[in-house]
Amino acid sequence: MTEHLTIVEHPLVQHKLTLMRDKETSTAGFRRLLREISHLLAYEVTRELAMTTKRIETPLQEIDAPILDGKKLALISILRAGNGLLDGILELIPAARVGFVGLYRDEKTLEPVQYYFKVPEALEDRLVIAVDPMLATGNSSVAAIDLLKEAGAKDIRFLCLLASPEGVARMKEAHPDVPIVTASLDEKLNEQGYIVPGLGDAGDRMFGTK
Ligand code: URA
Repeated sequence: MTEHLTIVEHPLVQHKLTLMRDKETSTAGFRRLLREISHLLAYEVTRELAMTTKRIETPLQEIDAPILDGKKLALISILRAGNGLLDGILELIPAARVGFVGLYRDEKTLEPVQYYFKVPEALEDRLVIAVDPMLATGNSSVAAIDLLKEAGAKDIRFLCLLASPEGVARMKEAHPDVPIVTASLDEKLNEQGYIVPGLGDAGDRMFGTK
C-alpha cells in the first residue's frame, strides 16, 4: 500500500455509514451495520495478504490453487470498540491470528492508558492489521502502534471507520509507514475529542452503554 490514507468511497460503504451516523439507529442495527461495513473495509485493507497454494482436485483435474496463508496475518483489536470491526473481518478470514490492545481514554487529558496487551507471536513475520472504528485525536492509535512495533511488528495497516484530520495528521507524524484505511475523513474534532459530524461514541453505540 503506497497511500498513507485510503478513503473507501464505495456506495455500499457510504450508505451503511450514513445509517450508522443516524442517532435513531438502534444498538442492534448499529452492530449489524458495523459487521457488514467491516466486510467491505476488509476487502480494501487485505489486498496485499500473503497467499500460498493448495493442491486440490476439481471434478476435472488436479491443480495448485491459491489460498490465503492465514498464519501470516495478525488482526489486532484496539479494545473495546475494535471488536466490532474484528468480528466482521474474522468472518471473512477465520484462520487469522488475533491480538488485543486495551487502551482507554482518560476523559480529562484525552491521553491513552494501557490496561491489556496480548498479541500473537512472531509479529515481525506477519502483516498486522490494527482495527479501531474511530481515529479521533490519534493518541490511542499512535500508542497502540507504538506497542505493536515494540512487540516486533514491521508491516502494519490501520483500519478505522471514521478519521479526523487531526488524527490522520498525528498518525502520519508518528507512524508515516502505517497506511490508514477508512470509510470517511470527517470535518474536525470537537473540544471533547469527538469526531464531528461523527457518529458519537462507537463503543457505546455498539454495546448499548452510556
Ligand atoms: N471515540 C468515539 O467513539 N467517538 C468519537 O467521536 C471519538 C472517539
